[in-house]
Amino acid sequence: MSAKELRGQVAVLTGAAQGLGRAIARAYGERGMKVALIDIMADRLEEAADEVRSLGGEALALPADLSDAKATQRVIEEALARLGAPRILIHNAALLKQRSMLEISLPQWRRELDIILQAAFILSKGVWQAMIDAGGGSIAYLSSGSGIKGFAAEVAYCPGKHGQEGLMKVLAIEGQPYNIAVNTITPGIAIHTPMSEANYTEEHKRDWVDPALLTPAFVYLAGIGAADVSGERLNAWELAQRVGAEG
Ligand SMILES: NC(=O)c1ccc[n+]([C@@H]2O[C@H](COP(=O)([O-])OP(=O)(O)OC[C@H]3O[C@@H](n4cnc5c(N)ncnc54)[C@H](O)[C@@H]3O)[C@@H](O)[C@H]2O)c1
Repeated sequence: MSAKELRGQVAVLTGAAQGLGRAIARAYGERGMKVALIDIMADRLEEAADEVRSLGGEALALPADLSDAKATQRVIEEALARLGAPRILIHNAALLKQRSMLEISLPQWRRELDIILQAAFILSKGVWQAMIDAGGGSIAYLSSGSGIKGFAAEVAYCPGKHGQEGLMKVLAIEGQPYNIAVNTITPGIAIHTPMSEANYTEEHKRDWVDPALLTPAFVYLAGIGAADVSGERLNAWELAQRVGAEG
């Protein structure tokens, strides 16, 4: 699907208030897409929605705590009721609080896991039938090195990201006959975001890049179906270079 064809198409994007999600929201706004923006930070979400509108897109700000199953269900229903079937769902919101096994409590563990994995399930289930009825769609979860490797003090984040990889593999198989592409996508490079400010070493901070450089990858994902790429763990940095060069 060309950039022109994306105009008027619907995107559901979580974690849209700042960081990588905010950069993706801008890129979709520039292409005239209708974007449902979901985040827990209501004020910054309104700013993001204004930004999308100023760039030529349509925006619906839907504040919600994605660790809360009912709130997550409510916002995905509202997004579809107000904007229609999404061409793409990107679950980008996540929380990383570095705590060791000795430090973390069960409620803290649950919260991080629910934002990352439970919300991935609820949001995907929320769009699944609408994407089938529309003849296809694209779903992507933001992955990380923590989706395939273990890191100390990531007792909740790591299993959450690993879980998203498993959910993606199942849904990619089930989505194939309906032309629904399901992938995970990892930044592939150090990015300058609030999460990175809180967690990167000084060495990583020296090389971080603006997350806007990754957005061609997410524009590409907005136009694909299951025959293009599905069931993959994509690298946003590499994909952005490739589709940027092709486009
Ligand atoms: N920053 C990195 O280097 C890096 C590396 C690998 C993967 N990632 C992944 O990329 C994605 C974006 O990362 P980022 O660096 O932009 O992070 P960020 O912390 O800057 O932004 C995450 C967004 O998610 C939102 N969020 C957090 N908890 C929420 C909740 N309970 N309900 C709703 N929204 C909530 C935050 O408010 C924020 O707007 C994440 O999934 C992250 O795991 C980031």
